[in-house]
Amino acid sequence: MPTMRFYRFAIAALVAFSEATSPALLHQNTARQNVTTSSQRLGLQWLGGNSTLPKVLVLFTGGTISGGSIYGALDDTQYGQLSINGEQIIARNPYLLNHTQLAVSNWTSEDFSTGTNDALVMNMTRFAHDALCSEDSDIDGAIFTHGTNSLEETAFLMDLLVNCGKPIVGIGSMRPWTHLSFDGDANFFDAVMLAASPESRNRGVLVAFNARILSGFWVTKLHSTNPDAFWSTAGGDLGIFINSLPVFFNSPSQPLHKHVFSIDQVSTHSTYPSLPKVDILYAARGFDGKLVLDAHANGADGVVIAGTGNGGIPSGSDEIKEALDQGLQVVVGTRSPYGPSSPARTPSYAKSGFLHVIQARIQLQLAIASGMGMNQTIDLFEGKFRTAIGQEWTPKQ
Ligand SMILES: *[C@@H]1O[C@H](CO)[C@@H](O)[C@H](O)[C@H]1NC(C)=O
Ligand SMILES: *[C@@H]1O[C@H](CO)[C@@H](O)[C@H](O)[C@H]1NC(C)=O
Ligand SMILES: *[C@@H]1O[C@H](CO)[C@@H](O)[C@H](O)[C@H]1NC(C)=O
Ligand SMILES: *[C@@H]1O[C@H](CO)[C@@H](O)[C@H](O)[C@H]1NC(C)=O
Ligand SMILES: *[C@@H]1O[C@H](CO)[C@@H](O)[C@H](O)[C@H]1NC(C)=O
Ligand SMILES: *[C@@H]1O[C@H](CO)[C@@H](O)[C@H](O)[C@H]1NC(C)=O
Repeated sequence: MPTMRFYRFAIAALVAFSEATSPALLHQNTARQNVTTSSQRLGLQWLGGNSTLPKVLVLFTGGTISGGSIYGALDDTQYGQLSINGEQIIARNPYLLNHTQLAVSNWTSEDFSTGTNDALVMNMTRFAHDALCSEDSDIDGAIFTHGTNSLEETAFLMDLLVNCGKPIVGIGSMRPWTHLSFDGDANFFDAVMLAASPESRNRGVLVAFNARILSGFWVTKLHSTNPDAFWSTAGGDLGIFINSLPVFFNSPSQPLHKHVFSIDQVSTHSTYPSLPKVDILYAARGFDGKLVLDAHANGADGVVIAGTGNGGIPSGSDEIKEALDQGLQVVVGTRSPYGPSSPARTPSYAKSGFLHVIQARIQLQLAIASGMGMNQTIDLFEGKFRTAIGQEWTPKQ
């Protein structure tokens, strides 16, 4: 038995060693030499067959758009017993392939809980970055279908990580495809037309929902059941769909306070393929600062607090200071749906600025994964805001 165990270990070590060194790399290099496009390299199968049309990659994570109900056409809350895949959604709409070529890349999780897994979403983001932003890319844009509950999280994450000018459009539906007024077909078509449009370039990640064009940086789900669920926390809509074609209001621009992270750097963090653990705590009268210490003891590298009003914390400041001294990073946003959590004169933690807490959590994850300490994180969240209001702050090193 011991010999056998050792033998197995030796084989495993050999395999690990050889994978870490030449053969895998060699294989990749030969494969690269022979192929000419990212589509070929990534094995994408283009549907449609008219090679003059724009190529739009469909990153399919499922969501309500792929869900159906056994409880009839009126049910829009108890669905999920039936499902359709990306190819089936495309097949429902004969207009799609007259305007674009589409290739489906499957990112559904085994349990169909779309977007609730940082590792899966990061893997998809790396894939999208490779497919769209590599030198050999032959793809014009991408859409990602998503469960609406966390659509804004993935949109914001991708917006901070994939920035080569090509459009990426998040979409979903609020009603299952068995419903008498399924919103998924129109949202899907709109998103594809948006991703295929040259007008969509250099605007960051977009979201197409209920005939609105929204910014992936600002978008949030404001209604839990209505098909008109998605709005912006600032800046308003970027445009609308008329006859399912995108009509923009303004020329391309990006949010002033957006920080672009390096996906390669983020991916060297020890939590790869996932991201550092950051928890959100919601402040209210009687807020218990011990929750912050508990989060750290439970493995969190960072905590975002949904503060009151302009980023207030009703109680618990001693515990927050203790947690900061222990190395926990803290960002305080606001539980108000609109408006900032603006910088303090002398910071000890970061105020989230215009990022609401769901976005602040993701930006803090990326900051920690990029190796930023608390002072750099403060500068990341507050720097441009401070400049605007004439309250610069430079940490003493
Ligand atoms: C790539 O080309 C080399 C030599 O031209 C050949 O030996 C190899 O099998 C090819 N690999 C693939 C994946 O087509
Ligand atoms: C392919 O698409 C082009 C538009 O880009 C169109 O003019 C042409 O008729 C299409 N070809 C076929 C065979 O449908
Ligand atoms: C798609 O294009 C073909 C060829 O141009 C045309 O015959 C067909 O009606 C179009 N389909 C739709 C749904 O527009
Ligand atoms: C997509 O992936 C899921 C999870 O791995 C799998 O269950 C499903 O069969 C896949 N769907 C397709 C169309 O390949
Ligand atoms: C993400 O990708 C890594 C590396 O390819 C893989 O080991 C891991 O299983 C993937 N995780 C998920 C949740 O897809
Ligand atoms: C962060 O900045 C403060 C204020 O200038 C300074 O006291 C502190 O030493 C800095 N911390 C680190 C880790 O550099």
